[in-house]
Amino acid sequence: MYENPVITVLGAGYVGLTTAALLAHSGYTVYAVEPNASRLNAIKRGKSFFYEKGLDPIIESALDSGTLIPTDSYEMGIPKSDVIFSCVGTPDNPDGSSNLTYVFNAAKEAARYLKPGSIYIQKSTVPVGTGADIEKLFTKLNKQIDYVSNPEFLREGTALQDTLFFDRIVVGGNNKQATDTVLSIYRNLEACRETIATKADVTSGSRKGEYITTSLNSAELIKVTANAFLALKISFANSIAKLADTVGADVVDVMNAVGADERIGSSFLHAGRGYGGGCFPKDVSGLIASGHQHGVELEIMTAARAVNDSMPGYIIKKLQNKLGDSLKNKQITVLGLAFKAGTSDVRRSPGVAIANALQRTGAIVRTYDPQVQDEAADDYVDGIMQQTSLEAAIKGADIVVITTEWLEFTTYHAANYAKLMKGSLLFDAVNCLDIPSVQAAGLTYVGVGR
Ligand code: UDX
Repeated sequence: MYENPVITVLGAGYVGLTTAALLAHSGYTVYAVEPNASRLNAIKRGKSFFYEKGLDPIIESALDSGTLIPTDSYEMGIPKSDVIFSCVGTPDNPDGSSNLTYVFNAAKEAARYLKPGSIYIQKSTVPVGTGADIEKLFTKLNKQIDYVSNPEFLREGTALQDTLFFDRIVVGGNNKQATDTVLSIYRNLEACRETIATKADVTSGSRKGEYITTSLNSAELIKVTANAFLALKISFANSIAKLADTVGADVVDVMNAVGADERIGSSFLHAGRGYGGGCFPKDVSGLIASGHQHGVELEIMTAARAVNDSMPGYIIKKLQNKLGDSLKNKQITVLGLAFKAGTSDVRRSPGVAIANALQRTGAIVRTYDPQVQDEAADDYVDGIMQQTSLEAAIKGADIVVITTEWLEFTTYHAANYAKLMKGSLLFDAVNCLDIPSVQAAGLTYVGVGR
């Protein structure tokens, strides 16, 4: 077991950069390998290339103390490293299966420099069985490396808090010395987490903090299963929302009461425009594809995906039904392009999907998001106009649709919406507004399942 391992982190994205910066704060020397030049330059200046609360001060001070070393070179840190965390991207293929090109390229490239006996830890989300294939690859390349699966559960927007005050750390592998080393790294991080939390200005949490060791295959399956189950809960809530709409119930009241049963739990039952982001859509499709590969049909996940895919269309339909006429030439403002509040990430963003669908109906669409600037532009259909302030976005709108639960939108007084809008329809696609306050301002409130 390594007492004070030197660490290399491959890929400085949402997971890799958070991991590298935090481990650099718990006394380890950490090389963070990022091949993208503009992202690397930002990190060298003490900045992440995405918005994540608390991360920049942590990067900056780790750079100052010399424990965080950003580089684009595998050769710089790996030969000196005892432990390598692979945190490269795993996009999906058009058929929904995981594209493991980066995962295998990283392993092959790292193998050129890995010293015998080092530990290669997979944090990227990979289909079950991938670790066994990478172990075979190392054996074929004549490398004596211990492979460990250590799936990541952090959420964007609360990445530091989730990593420092975790529910569980899962470590799967065949060599006890290697899994013990990984566990000890996290125990050291846990020992100094209050200091780091203060420095990053994130609130400390009181979560369970379990350490769980399993087989390699189980660890890989835990990660995708956890995400799939959370996605399932959301799609379940959205199915009930559709029924609530038809029978005149309020899905928020329903799910609050249902979630009060501690066997069910209240989290991830928030109905609205559906889930997005870099994980849930991809992981649900990846699990379905993984099932197919092994001859298992995961019907329940196919249904969860279908419900989620239906949500933007459901929202447009509801809007059309409410107005009783076409949306053509209506001035519609979509508030929120990030796939959720607290991030600038627009991957598989419901807000962008809804803006595109509205634009296709012939509406005149304007958008605004406090943290997204040009990032969404690539995903837009032609003609969408992105605004730089909330007021500019709302002014003169016939309809406003809130698609991300940013506080800037949910705490903006309903009277201000009413004053700036030309029309009076406020569509709360995240079910975050207080209905009586909206109605008191003279606006018509529409939610999802309310
Ligand atoms: C998720 C997992 O939560 C995390 O453990 C994993 O490591 C990565 O994937 P993330 O994608 O950052 O994290 O965001 P999360 O907060 O889970 O939300 C995912 C999507 O579901 C967002 O679009 C969010 O708005 C939506 N959501 C979440 C709902 O629609 N309803 C809910 O009740 C909760």
